[in-house]
Amino acid sequence: MAKLEFDDEGSRLVEEFNASAGAIERRARIQQALALKPGNRVLDIGSGPGHQAFDLSVAVGPAGRIDGVDPAESAIEIGRRRCSGLSNTRFHSGDSSNLPFDDESFDAVMSSQVFEYLDDVPGGLAEAFRVLKPGGRVLIHDTDWGALLWNSSDAPRMDLIMKSFEGHLADAHLPHTLGPKLRDAGFVDVSAKPVVHIETSYDPSSVSAILMKFVVGYVVSQGISQGEADAWASDLRELGATDHYFFSSNEYIFTAAKSAA
Ligand SMILES: C[S@@+](CC[C@H](N)C(=O)[O-])C[C@H]1O[C@@H](n2cnc3c(N)ncnc32)[C@H](O)[C@@H]1O
Repeated sequence: MAKLEFDDEGSRLVEEFNASAGAIERRARIQQALALKPGNRVLDIGSGPGHQAFDLSVAVGPAGRIDGVDPAESAIEIGRRRCSGLSNTRFHSGDSSNLPFDDESFDAVMSSQVFEYLDDVPGGLAEAFRVLKPGGRVLIHDTDWGALLWNSSDAPRMDLIMKSFEGHLADAHLPHTLGPKLRDAGFVDVSAKPVVHIETSYDPSSVSAILMKFVVGYVVSQGISQGEADAWASDLRELGATDHYFFSSNEYIFTAAKSAA
């Protein structure tokens, strides 16, 4: 199955998603877990449209610096535009498997909703380890798509759509194995915290409503008919109209350190 393409339309949808209240709260949780200090140098792997870089730039101040790296030119362009007024952010074209930075460059390396798309997670973690200074911290945030709950009046159709949508990722259950993978890469002090996102009413600007657009676009590209995908989305909106809407997702923020010794 083909992975989701972060072309112009994909990057635009991530931008819309990042403006939702749920995404803003999640960025605040990531920032809290990173506990940055003024002057820190931070790398955001898969920086997308640059919302995280924008938020983190305040925490590191003018003496610090945020570098974003992403292979999608459209994402880089949106990120540069978003942060054009900031003197301490930079965006680079590049890939997690071959980061364009020297060894031991960063105080912290973070990545949000990116490692679940990678074919080579150990390679990406090895690169994160390489570019971190001794004593530096890594933060990886991903969803476990097996823990997604979405009320539907047609359970078989929901299963069909979500099974197809899982193909947009390399590993829809990465949090299951991320702890051992971090340790195998050499990291210590590995820990994980959940971010549970719940919606009990339908709001067209919410995380789940924007996710619906990703789902419809992707599953149709994988052979599900437009009519079937639209009927799935209409059903969810109709449940919202009768006060029967329920969406819940489990995301995990993993943190770990590169030993100072
Ligand atoms: C779901 S978006 C998340 C973007 C951003 N982290 C955010 O939270 O707004 C996934 C991003 O990962 C990027 N990506 C995909 N494969 C990558 C790789 N091998 N190395 C670095 N970034 C990658 C995509 O281009 C896209 O911008």
